[in-house]
Amino acid sequence: MLILLTVERILEALRQVEEPELKNNLVTLNLARNIRIFGDKIVLTLMFLSEDAPHKEELIQQVITALKNIGAATVEVETEVLSSREQTALSERIREEHQEKIRTKRSEGRAALSSEQNTPPLLSKESKTRFISIASGKGGVGKSTVTVNLAIALAREGAKVGVIDADIYGFSVPDMMGVEERPRVVDKRIYPVERFGIKMISMGFFVEENAPVIWRGPMLGKMLRNFFQEVDWGTLDYMVLDLPPGTGDVALDVHQMLPQSKELLVTTPHATAAFVAARAGAMALHTDHEILGVVENMAWYECSSCKKKDYIFGRGGGEKLAAELDTDLLAQIPLGAPDNGDPGDPGYSPSVYAADTPTGQRYRDLARDVMKRTL
Ligand SMILES: Nc1ncnc2c1ncn2[C@@H]1O[C@H](COP(=O)(O)OP(=O)(O)O)[C@@H](O)[C@H]1O
Ligand SMILES: [Mg+2]
Repeated sequence: MLILLTVERILEALRQVEEPELKNNLVTLNLARNIRIFGDKIVLTLMFLSEDAPHKEELIQQVITALKNIGAATVEVETEVLSSREQTALSERIREEHQEKIRTKRSEGRAALSSEQNTPPLLSKESKTRFISIASGKGGVGKSTVTVNLAIALAREGAKVGVIDADIYGFSVPDMMGVEERPRVVDKRIYPVERFGIKMISMGFFVEENAPVIWRGPMLGKMLRNFFQEVDWGTLDYMVLDLPPGTGDVALDVHQMLPQSKELLVTTPHATAAFVAARAGAMALHTDHEILGVVENMAWYECSSCKKKDYIFGRGGGEKLAAELDTDLLAQIPLGAPDNGDPGDPGYSPSVYAADTPTGQRYRDLARDVMKRTL
């Protein structure tokens, strides 16, 4: 059977392949270029955000499969990296698409709210609690570490602070704070766990350890609402939230629920990480969340004997992100695990930097800055 390969058919097939980071298909994103047809052989160029883009091999395989499915005998995929100008243009476009999505979500959100009987006190107009959401474009950049240490630094300044661990992809806040106990439930009221003078609730306390993420997503909105309704927070000056990374529907839902929240974006110094974080930032802006600023984590490694800084993960990502979002780089946190004893020691917590350490002081300065910016 003779199958005629046309550019139209090829584009149609590539439309079915999604770029997993950017959450859109290769044709809409214009990432498949230079399509050439030689009989039953197709040659094309795939554009990537960086040389070491995640999912690279996976995506190439998907393209090959999609094109073989429409009758190509051979598929040759060349790869190229987008220029930084194209990266910027792409982020502009994604921003616009997000806007549309958010407009829809917003009207849905309004409808849901107006049917809501009683707004939890913490979310009411009279509430004095300032919400700070810690967001990032992707996981593993230190979002939870920043959440925990910022919350503790705020408490060290005398503020009453609550933390909600809402990152459904990994509830790490209890471990990071060295918390082993669970919240108490008395007469249907939930009492948060207290440690280092802050009150903390993790969604992980209430879901099965191995519950699939796909199921946790839709739960999150409901649970968050319950956390505000049924948890006895007392009065709080600050509520710090560890949000799911990225710009997916889950993150979007949280944005909708907490319109009053201000956002702190965490990135590593790597340019690609900053680019990915910019999309999260763009979403914040379009959901009317004010961006407080950027924290660059893992900014460098300082050699303890010679004091030389090594920029292991690259340089400039925080500055670049702040510039792109028209905000400020509030802190740069170097690489280095806290040195606070051994597991099993009383008061041990794997991810909390002591107040008098250089990193502890960087968090203190960050907390003071955040306090000023949320007055
Ligand atoms: N500045 C840092 N120096 C050394 N390790 C860090 C630093 N920040 C985070 N980490 C470690 O990196 C890993 C990822 O950090 P985490 O806060 O869990 O990221 P996220 O919440 O963004 O996924 C954790 O093991 C954490 O302890
Ligand atoms: Mg985390």
